[in-house]
Amino acid sequence: MSEQTIALVTGANKGIGYEIAAGLGALGWSVGVGARGDEPRESAVEKLRAAGVDAFGVPLDVTDDASVAAAARLIEERAGRLDVLVNNAGITGGMPQTPTTVDPAVMRAAVETNVIGVIRVTNAMLPLLRRSASPRIVNMSSTVGSLTRQTTPGAETGPISAAYAPSKTFLNAVTVQYAKELSGTNILINAGCPGFCATDLNGFRGVRTPEQGAAIAIRLATLPDDGPTGGFFDDAGPVPW
Ligand SMILES: NC(=O)c1ccc[n+]([C@@H]2O[C@H](COP(=O)([O-])OP(=O)(O)OC[C@H]3O[C@@H](n4cnc5c(N)ncnc54)[C@H](OP(=O)(O)O)[C@@H]3O)[C@@H](O)[C@H]2O)c1
Repeated sequence: MSEQTIALVTGANKGIGYEIAAGLGALGWSVGVGARGDEPRESAVEKLRAAGVDAFGVPLDVTDDASVAAAARLIEERAGRLDVLVNNAGITGGMPQTPTTVDPAVMRAAVETNVIGVIRVTNAMLPLLRRSASPRIVNMSSTVGSLTRQTTPGAETGPISAAYAPSKTFLNAVTVQYAKELSGTNILINAGCPGFCATDLNGFRGVRTPEQGAAIAIRLATLPDDGPTGGFFDDAGPVPW
């Protein structure tokens, strides 16, 4: 098996995910570009390779069991193991989404992608991660999922959101449960917030660049063996639940 570190980034065709792939690739890692659309995936892989990254395309829709199973097979055949999984793919479900008017379909879509999608991909990749000497799982969350921040007067909490923010709270809770189950293994799993970055997700209203947003994921992907697990971090350090 290759000595080169193997990573998979979901939703890596654009935005923060693309920059995470670029940042991990700059470390000399082999990076799977997980993306559901053929053309966006292939053009991201081409752009990354032009920048010197050892990138390969991984067709991947996180809401689709068959697609996720095929992605795990592709990585097994290519590398035989996985060292780092970055669960970055996410959607808001569309705004506005006030609790009093939200369409249940919007709730389901946000949870299906942002929570169940992460569980689906993580569980499919776990057998490959268990073969790594230092497996890391990074879940891209958001400080809008922090109930402490949401209930702190004056704190920056984003728009009222029935689906997106609670889906990230749910994701944080799931991250903690994974950390509990995986304690005693060498797998470190953490949630990270990229900050408010200018991407498609928010109509490019964010104030940080996607590259700046990628930094926390890269930090959590490269934690030392005695690093934290079951935590929630942004660039400034631990984020309150
Ligand atoms: N931007 C921010 O300010 C901000 C703040 C906090 C947290 N985050 C989180 O950071 C992550 C990346 O967001 P971003 O801002 O970079 O958004 P983005 O530019 O909209 O990118 C989202 C990525 O997720 C992919 N995706 C969505 N549904 C998918 C599915 N079912 N299967 C596979 N891929 C799927 C998208 O693929 P397609 O191109 O095919 O749609 C795209 O590659 C998300 O988890 C988001 O919640 C972002």
